[in-house]
Formats: sequence, C-alpha cells, structure tokens
Amino acid sequence: MNLLQGKTAIVTGAARGIGEAVALKFAAHGCNVAFTYISDSSKEKAEALEQKLIALGVKAKAYQSNAANFAACESFVNDVLKEFGNVDICVNNAGISKDNLLLRMTPEQWNEVINVNLNSVFYMTKQVIKPMMKARTGSIINMSSIIGEIGNAGQSSYAASKAGVIGFTKSVAKELGSRNIRCNAIAPGFVETDMTSYLKDGEGADKYKAGIPLGRFASAEDIANVTLFLASDLSSYVTGQTISACGGLNI
Ligand code: NAI
Repeated sequence: MNLLQGKTAIVTGAARGIGEAVALKFAAHGCNVAFTYISDSSKEKAEALEQKLIALGVKAKAYQSNAANFAACESFVNDVLKEFGNVDICVNNAGISKDNLLLRMTPEQWNEVINVNLNSVFYMTKQVIKPMMKARTGSIINMSSIIGEIGNAGQSSYAASKAGVIGFTKSVAKELGSRNIRCNAIAPGFVETDMTSYLKDGEGADKYKAGIPLGRFASAEDIANVTLFLASDLSSYVTGQTISACGGLNI
C-alpha cells in the first residue's frame, strides 16, 4: 500500500539515523523527498541516500542546509518549492545532544542545543506553513524525545529543547487546525543510532534495556513507522499529540 503516493516531504538531518530511515520509508510509500544534511563530511552519505530514494521510483534531492539558521531554512524551502512544486509533509528531525551537568554547562553549550533542537523547528515550520495554508493541507511532525517529558540528569538543555518542541507542536495544532494543517510530535525512547552509540553494547546497555518493557532499544525504522502514520491520512483526525515510541519506558 502506498500511503503517501505523489506527496512531497521535507526531512531535516536525514543523512543518517532516524531521518534517513524516515526518508526511505516515505519513498517506499511513493513520496517525493527533499532532505537536508549539514556538514561536508555527510555529503557522500547524503548523495548515496538521494540515489537510493530515486531508485525507489520517486523524486528526491539532498540539500546542504543548516536547520538552525533562519535564512538558510527560508532559502531551502523556496528551493524545494521551485523544484518540487509543493510541500505536503515536513519532518523536523535534525537534532543534537551536548550533555553536561548543569554546574559545568556553559551558556554557549546551552544555546547550541536550543538553537538546533528548538529554534530550527520554529524556523522550518514558519516556512512550510505558507505553501500548506495555500494548499489547505499539511502534516508537520516534530521529533521530540522521552527526555523532554521525564527529564534526565546531565541533559537539561536537551530536555528543555525537546519539551519546548512539545509545547510548540500543540500551539501550531491549535493555530492551524482550521486550515487542515496537522502538527504532531514523536517522543522516542532509546533508538540505535550514532546519537546513542555510547549505549551500544555491554553492561550499560543491558541495564537500560532491563528498564524497557519491550526489552530492547528501538530501531530507526520503528520510529520511521510512527512518522509514516502521522504523515499519512491514517492519522487524519490526529493533531497536537505527542506519540511515545519508547517501548513502554514511560509507564
Ligand atoms: P543522529 O545524530 O544520528 O542524526 C541527526 C542528524 O541531524 C545528523 O545527520 C546531523 O548531521 C543532523 N543535524 C544536526 N544538526 C543539524 C542542523 N543544524 N541542520 C541540519 N541537520 C543537522 O541522531 P538520531 O538519533 O537520528 O536523531 C534524530 C532526531 O531524533 C533528533 O532530533 C534526536 O534528538 C531525536 N531523538 C533521538 C533519540 C535516540 O535515541 N537516537 C531518542 C529521542 C529523540
């Protein structure tokens, strides 16, 4: 079943990890994908992903663009509109963590995390709602985190940024619901990506897994499946929600 046939999606930070899995999942469901990557070192991976997506029979393009820069987001979305004609779905996925205990955290470290994880969501959403309002349809999906809901020692900046994403998501849902634009967040638990590579194996990983009812970390594809649901018409009456995809860690 092609749940997103003929639609166009933007995915930020998709050269690897959850973003890459989302791009592949969307393309497998017939969706054209415009995605961003930030660093020169990701260029090769981004180009390889672009080719993989095209091989799935959709239109796809990689853009080097910083989601944490307002002007860059504006020109990226304008370029996408020129190239693809419309934007039906926006997945605000780009994110970083710079963990540190509060006593040691500098304002620069704090601001960097807020800028990449929270300001970027505002920057991108502000751009994509214009074409979505015109088309009177749209689905915006923001990658939050379980940490935004429960907090974590050493992750105050990350938790604050991801909690901010949830408040923003609810406000956008209220502001734009009447225009048929939906906005939802996903709160993953531990996902096996580069971001959590420190958890990969050994005793530490076993300890974390023991606290997860499903007994395992998520794959990027587990999260991509939830993203697909929120992007598609299967969730046509769902907005302003935060879907936990954490293996039951929050219960
Ligand atoms: P990752 O580190 O593997 O991928 C993040 C991607 O975002 C990277 O490709 C990176 O280059 C890109 N990126 C970073 N800053 C950017 C910017 N300013 N502009 C454009 N791209 C930028 O991480 P992962 O795990 O795939 O995370 C994706 C999202 O999911 C993030 O928002 C993260 O906070 C969130 N998340 C991840 C969890 C996990 O356990 N891995 C758990 C909960 C949420």
